[in-house]
Amino acid sequence: MTLSDTKPWWQGSFGYQIYIRSFADSNNDGYGDFQGIRSKIPYLKDLGIDFLWITPFYPSPMADWGYDVAEYCDIDSTFGNLDDFDALVGQAHESGIKIVADLVPNHTSDQHKWFKEARKGPENEFRDYYIWKDPAPDGGPPNNWVAYFGGPAWTFDETSGQYYMHLFLPEQPDLNWRNPKILEEFDQILRFWLERGVDGFRIDVAGGLMKDEQFRSNPEITPWDPEGDRWEQFESFEHRYDIFQEDNHEIFRRWRSIFDEHGAYLHGETYILEPSGLAELLPGDGLHGGFWFEPMHIEWDPDEIRRSVVEVSDLVGESILWAAGSHDMPRSPTRFGNDDTGRFRTLALNTLFSFLPGVPVIYQGEELGLIDGDVPEEHKLDPVALNDKQFGGRDGCRTPMPWSSSSNEGGHLIINGFSEVQPWLISKQRDASETAEAQIGKPDSWHSYYKELLHTRRSLPDLTGLEVTWLDSGQGPILWYERGPVGVVINTSSESELVKLSLDSEIVYKTPQVEMTEIGEEIVISGVGAFVYLRD
Ligand code: GLC
Repeated sequence: MTLSDTKPWWQGSFGYQIYIRSFADSNNDGYGDFQGIRSKIPYLKDLGIDFLWITPFYPSPMADWGYDVAEYCDIDSTFGNLDDFDALVGQAHESGIKIVADLVPNHTSDQHKWFKEARKGPENEFRDYYIWKDPAPDGGPPNNWVAYFGGPAWTFDETSGQYYMHLFLPEQPDLNWRNPKILEEFDQILRFWLERGVDGFRIDVAGGLMKDEQFRSNPEITPWDPEGDRWEQFESFEHRYDIFQEDNHEIFRRWRSIFDEHGAYLHGETYILEPSGLAELLPGDGLHGGFWFEPMHIEWDPDEIRRSVVEVSDLVGESILWAAGSHDMPRSPTRFGNDDTGRFRTLALNTLFSFLPGVPVIYQGEELGLIDGDVPEEHKLDPVALNDKQFGGRDGCRTPMPWSSSSNEGGHLIINGFSEVQPWLISKQRDASETAEAQIGKPDSWHSYYKELLHTRRSLPDLTGLEVTWLDSGQGPILWYERGPVGVVINTSSESELVKLSLDSEIVYKTPQVEMTEIGEEIVISGVGAFVYLRD
């Protein structure tokens, strides 16, 4: 039997994103690490997780907290070493949990040896690993491209009198993917990790690798304000030439053959908010899957939820990765109310995602119903905190996991069971009720609601390949679909709603708002909530 005869491991799986710096600190230095993750494998197994996506752990000067890689085939000492990594992979595999790493191929750190060399001048053998251009006739940047983090996508290099390009910080110079040497370098990097036992990669900025060959300026939609909010700056342009170029696929096709040799999962950060755009990025012979980000940009409104789920599900199906939150956006319960309502909305959304085609992923702490941590302005560390007027940066969703209440043992303050020293990112204490310790094993806790959802999903028949039929009216507060023998209903409103099921249905999962009336087939959902049923 060949690999292609079996179902890929990720189909039907449930993922969990670990922001490694803030997950679990084993040596009390204030930073999460590999040994910390190892100590939580039983917790993750018990929760019902199938794979962990771990954010970058490579040596890095941390200008963008690890998304600025200075060496691709090693581990930053903050997190441990290669032996610790191997031990994690071994332990996770023994527990039936896969490990997905995060590859950052769009750019390196400016401290990577390739860039340090390239910077020496146009004759250097690494010069063409990056994108260098002469200034425009007026001495300014070569074109009007702007960085995702605001400001121009070009930085002037005094030594050579040329500009180099970066879609993110100036400390994150973009690689030149039209140089065949880069393709070869990354083949080796991927093989290095796949041979070590990594089960897949999330490709950072998957739409950004190739740039227009002629470096044409993007059409301007609204006048660009270089001082404005970073999102507004980026949206001032139609990104016709800088990102989502068709020839990215050639890279993914090449990688796909390497991944398929290892049965590994190749998926990307595919930050495009159009269902048809996502479908184009996933033609079938490149990335196995792509994250869908629209649900992180919606208001809690039934029409918006429908718009963000139904069309993309029909169009992209099994290749979608569904997520309500990540290390880049305010936590979903915060966006949806910053209270228990926001938490129930997030749970309902995750229930909706969980039985659709595709792979659901939750972000660490989502299973505890966490809202954003409170990071005082003077302690913010995200490089975009200042020009992200919309969200105030990404620190709030990156604060350490609250494993237990803070305690004071022998004069040591142990902060939320994370670390005996101040964690790398300082935030206000969490309430005891937010901690894993307070929630595990307690029937009415967020942890229990999520654990039950994940275990229900595991216990149901495999739905892979089955079509989705939407049974709601296409408007109003109820969203309802069936897929094979499984049905999912969510009530998005705070009002009571009545749903009539056929008598052969058995409710296999429900949130506390769901009550059956005496007649049996009438279900009342008295507020934002969800249930899952199984038909004979
Ligand atoms: C991705 C990451 C984000 C990072 C950026 C630059 O969007 O998710 O955290 O800042 O890439 O690498």
